[in-house]
Formats: sequence, C-alpha cells, structure tokens
Amino acid sequence: MESILNIRNVSKIYQSAGRELTVLNNINFSIDTGSTVAITGPSGSGKTTLLGLCAGLDRASSGSVELSGVVLDKLTEDERAAVRNQYVGFIFQNFQLLPTLTALENVMVPLELRGAKNIKSHALELLDKVGLADRGHHYPVQLSGGEQQRVSLARAFSNRPALLFADEPTGNLDAETSEKIIKLLFDLNKDAGTTLVIVTHDPDLAARTNRVIKMKGGLIIADENPNYV
Ligand SMILES: Nc1ncnc2c1ncn2[C@@H]1O[C@H](COP(=O)(O)OP(=O)(O)OP(=O)(O)O)[C@@H](O)[C@H]1O
Ligand SMILES: [Mg+2]
Repeated sequence: MESILNIRNVSKIYQSAGRELTVLNNINFSIDTGSTVAITGPSGSGKTTLLGLCAGLDRASSGSVELSGVVLDKLTEDERAAVRNQYVGFIFQNFQLLPTLTALENVMVPLELRGAKNIKSHALELLDKVGLADRGHHYPVQLSGGEQQRVSLARAFSNRPALLFADEPTGNLDAETSEKIIKLLFDLNKDAGTTLVIVTHDPDLAARTNRVIKMKGGLIIADENPNYV
C-alpha cells in the first residue's frame, strides 16, 4: 500500500517563559493513500499540533514530514503553501474563515488560488451540499458556529484535495447536521479517493474510519484498525 503521509521522529517543542514544553514527542506513522484515519485523545494531548505539522501549516522542531512524496522539512513558507494548495484541505477547529469575505467568497478562495474555472457556480454547489445555499452572501459574523463550520467544510472540499485534515469537524453540530457532514466527508473519500485524517472526540465517528490513532501527552499510545479484523 502506498502512503500519502510519512511522519518520521517528529517532535514539537515550544519555549515558554524560559522553559521547554514538549508537545509532540518523537511521533512516527504513515498513512495509506485513500484511507480514513481518526486521531483521538484528551484535550491538550497534541492532536491539533500534529495535524498542523502533517498539513504543512507549521514546522516540526525535529523530524521529517513527507506529504504526497514531497519532503516539507526544508521548504520555505511559500513553498509549503504551494504544496498545501495542491494537495491539502483543512477544516480548522475554530473554522478560520476570512472575516472580510462572504461565505461564498470564502469557499471561492482555494478555487481562485488554483486558477479553476466556473469558480462561482462551483462554490455555490458546494454551499448547497452543506445546506447553506441561501447564506452565500452572509459574512462569518452573521453565521452561527455550526454554519461557519459548514462553510469551512465547503471551502476544504473545494479543490478536491488528495488529503483532507479535519479538526473536530462535528464538534459544534447537532446530531442531524453532524451525520450530514460525516456523510459528505466519507463520500469524498469514496468518490474522489480523498484520504481523510479526522481529529474527533466522537467514538461513533472514530469507529467508522479504517484506523484510530490514540494520543496522550504528546505520544501515540495506541494505533488500531477497528474495521480490519
Ligand atoms: N504556540 C504554543 N505555545 C506554547 N504551547 C502551545 C502552543 N500551541 C499549543 N501549545 C500547547 O500544546 C499542547 C497541545 O495542544 P493541542 O492544541 O495540539 O492539543 P489538542 O490535543 O488539539 O487539544 P484539544 O482537544 O483541546 O483541541 C497544549 O498543552 C497547548 O497548551
Ligand atoms: Mg485541538
């Protein structure tokens, strides 16, 4: 099986008030192309930090990250951004929509960066998929948390990424909307072959993935394939 992500001896250490805080401690794993993976673990265990390093949003203190065959370690910020635009979608824990752009414009950004065609109609289609067809002209502050989360999803889907990272994508949603979002994620995996890496506290969602990686205190403490007997 080919892997789309290779993480080798990755550590992340923050300096704060003259002290070192080891947030990720020598992490190793690979993720198969086209698979679905859940990352679980208590608050503060390093899940969001790990996702950021895997997606090339941030740089490891040591170790190596290889994404779609590209080693990110020595790339400049701009080079990493280019790799992200080409391969990666990201749904942030706090959405990170651009406040000065409408919902529709937020979804259009990655398409514009890619130089895609029919950007507006494609973005409208994506908003429709997440149930927000009539909210395209609204700014993020005019949307509820769950609605912002869904715009963030539509934006992450827009360039049909090879690899989609989702940081608690259903964290703020009611059961029915959660189910819709989860279905969209898994449909993307099935139809476009998108590899999914999902941070979640939801055991039901984790159980639907091919593999569950459990973290605690900056370490991987378990790595399970619940669906593979
Ligand atoms: N920029 C930073 N400087 C210092 N410490 C940081 C920084 N970013 C994160 N941390 C620390 O790293 C640890 C891991 O944070 P992280 O956000 O990865 O946890 P998490 O597993 O995603 O938690 P949650 O489930 O609450 O989202 C925390 O103790 C956090 O305080
Ligand atoms: Mg987090």
